[in-house]
Amino acid sequence: MSVIHKCLFPVAGYGTRFLPVTKAIPKEMLPILTKPLIQYGVEEAMSAGIRTMAMVTSKHKQAIENHFKPHLEIESSIQGTAKEPLLDEVNQIIKQCDFAYIEQQEMLGLGHAIYTGKSLIGNKPFAVILPDDLCTNDDDSVLLQMTKLHTQHPDCCIVAIEAVPMDAVDKYGVIDGELLSDSNNTWLVHNMVEKPSPEAAPTNLAIIGRYILTPDIFTVLENTQPDKNGEIQITDALMTLAKKGKVIAYQFQGKRFDCGSVKGFVKATNAFAEKLL
Ligand code: UTP
Repeated sequence: MSVIHKCLFPVAGYGTRFLPVTKAIPKEMLPILTKPLIQYGVEEAMSAGIRTMAMVTSKHKQAIENHFKPHLEIESSIQGTAKEPLLDEVNQIIKQCDFAYIEQQEMLGLGHAIYTGKSLIGNKPFAVILPDDLCTNDDDSVLLQMTKLHTQHPDCCIVAIEAVPMDAVDKYGVIDGELLSDSNNTWLVHNMVEKPSPEAAPTNLAIIGRYILTPDIFTVLENTQPDKNGEIQITDALMTLAKKGKVIAYQFQGKRFDCGSVKGFVKATNAFAEKLL
């Protein structure tokens, strides 16, 4: 049984790669077919047994909160029609989960967004999902795979990794480490580099938007210096814990779509359309 009860969703970013649509619509509300990215993320957290969703959001992202509230007018207008089941999935989520929100007032990076969520999380290990990384798998979801691994390494943070083309490493945090014995997909992390050039990258193993973090990450984040762009990077904070042998990287089973980029978003749309339509 997993001990992870809360999932943090850092969703305060501006989504500038999707302008102009993201002027008024949060990136996380962009749909793959008819379901917004944030709902896929929440469903993945639920598949790992999590029922408390903590969102680090911004004042421009009210639509996310509205999505996870009942809409009685629409419900009564479709009641008794063939469209009634279209709200079933999200209504089940609303019924089964608690949602909590906190505002990130300045966009000071992913590490800062995670730190902003501290009061919603408390002092237990927790999951983090970046909903613009949309993950699919026919079997266990990526987060469920990670919560299972967490039971074997309860004192460690876990980052999900994917082998990416070497010319793409400069978009990611990249890890270096040693494979744990008896494993071909789990590394003890020795080094992490944020957005390295291909020449400087230790490997092509890139961190994607799924983490299990232990609560000591908050103290580390508090003491992590901003990078040259003024942003606090989660990779830098994790590096502090990696030096103590407390970070594990897990090459997950499944497929990830980078829906934070227009190209990845179109790929996800096409893949889902092929499967479902
Ligand atoms: P990204 O850099 O991919 O998202 O951050 P972005 O900044 O919204 O997108 P672009 O680059 O301008 O198009 C990764 C995740 O971290 C969150 C984002 O919302 C996204 O889920 N984030 C990032 C925050 O919540 N706060 C921040 O200050 C930065």
